[in-house]
Amino acid sequence: MAAAKPTVARPLVDPFARAITYLRVSVTDRCDFRCVYCMSEDMHFLPKKDLLSLEELDRLCAAFVARGVRKIRITGGEPLVRRDIMTLFRSLSQHLDSGAMDEVTVTTNGSQLTRFARDLYACGVRRINVSLDTLDAAKFRAVTRWGDFDKVIAGIDAAQAAGLAVKINAVALQGFNDDEFEDLIRWSHGRGMDLTFIEVMPLGEIEGQRADQYIPLSQVRARLERSFTLAPIDYSSGGPARYVRIAETGGRLGFITPLTHNFCESCNRVRVTCTGTLYMCLGQEDAADLRAPLRAAPTDEPLHAAIDAAIARKPKGHDFVIDRASSRPAVARHMSLTGG
Ligand code: 5AD
Ligand code: SF4
Repeated sequence: MAAAKPTVARPLVDPFARAITYLRVSVTDRCDFRCVYCMSEDMHFLPKKDLLSLEELDRLCAAFVARGVRKIRITGGEPLVRRDIMTLFRSLSQHLDSGAMDEVTVTTNGSQLTRFARDLYACGVRRINVSLDTLDAAKFRAVTRWGDFDKVIAGIDAAQAAGLAVKINAVALQGFNDDEFEDLIRWSHGRGMDLTFIEVMPLGEIEGQRADQYIPLSQVRARLERSFTLAPIDYSSGGPARYVRIAETGGRLGFITPLTHNFCESCNRVRVTCTGTLYMCLGQEDAADLRAPLRAAPTDEPLHAAIDAAIARKPKGHDFVIDRASSRPAVARHMSLTGG
């Protein structure tokens, strides 16, 4: 039987009675890839001096854990390119050991996993998400601009060998991987990995038009039903994906559908960037600065006050649309800043 969860003195509850128990932390806006739907080729990154130190990130995470956050996802950019990032994982593992937190997870592009998979496991990480949009090495290079497919596959091998459960995330891209969905399912499930398809979201300026990239997953699902038997299941990994089981492979397939099905009503999360900016919603501009209160005092009281004020204005949801009439993205900042 699971141990009773400790009672939290001042849990974070937003105006729509949603408890905030999940924090996503982007530890760097930098990345060793330049995925075409995510970044422009000549991305400008934040000056290093604007970043929170690893100690400050740790303190920030601890403050949220004290307020009832049970799950932290470390994201980026590419989180594993941040120098000494394992020190943050190591100190977060104390909240796992104490029972204050259930899970620390990572979203990664996989490029550094041969180096870090075992360390992540040693720090209590048990599940990771690896982004992989295609199984074709040349296409992989094209979509990531800079990525090396073999290195990522070696990274996935290393993660599984280290005991990490791997979930593959693939962004559904028109004319790019729409002929590979069945292969991605068979490949992921064949290796004992869950797979999630994601609708491309209008975040940040890129060279191309997202309207040309976007495929509604409702359409993908209908198409998959011709080759597979999809049975809805109750499983949730704590995020927005809705899952089905594929009878033919026995594996789980998730759909993240911010555009065709809005899942905001069950939102349990907030995001903090590597500069300490708290975004209450991925799809809205409103944000709260936590860096100033974090640096204002050695005690956490100003920080808690800022967190309370921010949660009190968490919006009901996003209003993403992708259409040709509006050529500008719904939200100016890139996914690599707020964290995927
Ligand atoms: N829309 C949807 N997914 C995106 N990602 C990055 N940018 C976007 C976007 N605009 C995905 C990556 C990765 C995760 C972190 O977010 O492919 O799977
Ligand atoms: Fe890097 Fe991920 Fe953005 Fe690709 S999607 S450029 S891997 S942050």
